[in-house]
Amino acid sequence: MSEVLHERLEGGILLLRINRPEAKNALNQEVRRLLADHCLAAGADDGVKVIVLTGNAEAFAAGADIKAMAEATPIELMLRRNHEQWLAIARCPKPIVAAVQGYALGGGCELAMHADIIVAGETATFGQPEVRVGIMPGAGGTQRLTRAVGKFKAMLYCLTGQTFSGREAFEMGLASKVAPDAEVLDAALEIARTICKMPPLAIRQIKEVMLAGAEVPLETALMLERKAFQMLFDSADQKEGMRAFLEKRKPSYKGA
Ligand code: CAA
Repeated sequence: MSEVLHERLEGGILLLRINRPEAKNALNQEVRRLLADHCLAAGADDGVKVIVLTGNAEAFAAGADIKAMAEATPIELMLRRNHEQWLAIARCPKPIVAAVQGYALGGGCELAMHADIIVAGETATFGQPEVRVGIMPGAGGTQRLTRAVGKFKAMLYCLTGQTFSGREAFEMGLASKVAPDAEVLDAALEIARTICKMPPLAIRQIKEVMLAGAEVPLETALMLERKAFQMLFDSADQKEGMRAFLEKRKPSYKGA
C-alpha cells in the first residue's frame, strides 16, 4: 500500500494521508517524494481546489526518518535534494489544510507549517525535538516557527526540544483552530468545503499575495495586494459574485 494515500472527495478536495503507522508516520524519502508529487499535480489540476493533509490518530508525522538519516554523510543528504520536495509543497498554489492529531514532531511539525491552515487536536504533540538527537531543525523549523509564534517561544522549543499540545499551539498562533482529537479531520474538511465554494481565482491570489507579501517590505506587499485585487476585476467570478449579492442569490463560480 502507498505510504501516502490519496482520495478525491466531492467538491474538489484532495485528501492526502501519510501512511507509515509502524514508524509513527516518520517522513522517509518515499513519503517526501509522494507529498511533493501530489502537490505538484494538484497545482496543475483545476479539479483540485483544496488539499487536506493528515496522518492518523497517533501521528501526523513524528519527524524525518531517523533510521534513514543516522549514518548519512553531508553529501548524501545534499544528493537527496529534499529541499526541492519541501519547495514543491511550499509553492503549491492550492490551499493546504493540515489536520494534526498525535505527534507532529521535527519534520512533522515543519510539514504542518508548510500548510496554510492548521487544525490541531487538543492533545496533539507539536515540537522541534531535533536537538535531542544531536541536530537541529532542517526543513524550516527555526524560521517558520519563529515567524508563527515569535522568537522567545520558538527559541524555547528549538533549544530544549520541549513539546507543546495542540491547544497550546492554538493559543500561540501556530494552529488556526483547535478541535477535540476525534473531530480534527471533520473540522479540517469543513474548512476545505467552505474554501471549495469560493471563487478559485480569488483563492489563488489570496494565497499567493499573503505568502509572497510576508517576504517583502510592507509597501511592496501592499502593491502586490493592490495589483492582484485590481486584476480580479477582470474575472467572470468577480462579476458573478457581486451580481449575485445584488440580486440576493447564491453565486455560481466558474474559476474564470
Ligand atoms: N524516525 C524513524 N522512526 C521513528 C521515528 C522517526 N522520527 N519516530 C518513531 N519512529 C519509530 C520508532 O523507532 C518505532 O519503531 P520500532 O517499532 O521499529 O522500534 C516506532 O516508530 C514506534 O515508535 P516508539 O516505540 O518510539 O513509540 P512511542 O509511542 O514510545 O514514542 C515518539 C513516540 C515520542 C514519537 C517517539 O517515537 C519519538 O520520540 N520519535 C522521534 C521524534 C523525533 O526526534 N523527531 C525529529 C526527527 S529529526 C527531524 O525531523 C529533522 C528535520 O528537521 C527534517
